Amino acid sequence: MLARDSEWLLPVYARFPVAMERGEGVYLFDTSGNRYLDLMGGLGVNALGHAHPRMVRATAEQAARMVHLSPQYCTPAAGELAERLCLLSGMAGVFYSTGGSESVEGAIKLARAFGIEHAGASKFRIAALEGSYHGRTFGSMSVTGQSKYRDGFGPTLDGVDLARKNDIASLCSAVSVDTCAILLETVLGEGGVHNLDAEFLQEARRLAHEYDALLILDEIQCGLGRVGQWFAFEQSGVQPDVLILGKPLGGGLPLSAFLVSGELFHVLGIGKHGSTLGGSPLACRLGLEFLSTVEEENLLARVLDTGAYLSTHLEALAREGGVAVEARGRGLIQGLELSVPGRPIAEAALEQGLMLNFVQGNVMRFLPSFLLERKHVDAMLEVVRPLLKRAAAGKASLETTLVAVA
Ligand SMILES: Cc1ncc(COP(=O)(O)O)c(C=O)c1O
Repeated sequence: MLARDSEWLLPVYARFPVAMERGEGVYLFDTSGNRYLDLMGGLGVNALGHAHPRMVRATAEQAARMVHLSPQYCTPAAGELAERLCLLSGMAGVFYSTGGSESVEGAIKLARAFGIEHAGASKFRIAALEGSYHGRTFGSMSVTGQSKYRDGFGPTLDGVDLARKNDIASLCSAVSVDTCAILLETVLGEGGVHNLDAEFLQEARRLAHEYDALLILDEIQCGLGRVGQWFAFEQSGVQPDVLILGKPLGGGLPLSAFLVSGELFHVLGIGKHGSTLGGSPLACRLGLEFLSTVEEENLLARVLDTGAYLSTHLEALAREGGVAVEARGRGLIQGLELSVPGRPIAEAALEQGLMLNFVQGNVMRFLPSFLLERKHVDAMLEVVRPLLKRAAAGKASLETTLVAVA
């Protein structure tokens, strides 16, 4: 299977040499029957773990009725899910797409249409953050504050002004009368798990009002319960004009959305935007089941409890020194920055039944299922602590050699 994949799939991902067959809760099983504790959660998609009985049942029921239909027709789940998302978030309307990048594109189009309509052709600039990540399509990579994702692809979107995270002066310099939107990830995920301070978000809100720009929060990774509240912006007291959601929204099926305030409801009128597969009856049905399951199984409380336990232990690892430098995050989006590359640690962990994920090359990022419990954190630590010790010993002996050579 691995050889066939290498032959036929483009070599875009640094894949691991293991073939997974099935999942159950927080675990995955490979084709030889080995069990793995899944701490990356399909990059934050599998919030209810694998093969959750409610999701399995809902998939079968809905698939037997209708999987896809043109978005020009009404089906029960799309509207019900939109209503529930708006009631939870304080937003007023929803547009569905498939992947997160596609919803970022839609939000950019909406912001530009709003700015240009109200203030003229020059109001199209977007202020975003250095180190942010918003996706891989042309618009979304243009507003991503990491040049490595744009390099080699020729001209990207014009009019992107980058500011430093949690630096109010820097944000003020990036915003002008030509800014149509300030786009922020409430918790920067792929950039290494960095929270935005409440004061920074509040200042972004104030600036957006002052310059008649939209405040767009990209909560594709940190929203929908991952921080132990439905949305990461809730704690800041800031309400966005546009909220972007994705990852777990479709219970594992491709579903993302941008949600808008009442003022923006009619900006994209008939024919102005679209998505053939966005908001399919099956994905929306699973989205509803996901929300109900989180509520009925009281999973936000579990995220807070396990998240606090995880963060206490990651902070302890960072205090112990060695190669662990800093622990960051909220709820079940957590990061442990190392002073060594993560890939060898991820490979060694996999051999011991642990699926770890690294971003920025050296930040161990946790995006596990909301079903994770303290005992799973303990199991992770039993594998990770010795691996970090080994990495520290390796680093020390390399440094000694380098000093000797010098
Ligand atoms: C904050 C954020 N925005 C946008 C995206 C892009 O989403 P997708 O990969 O589904 O296109 C991601 C994906 O990791 C993300 O974390």
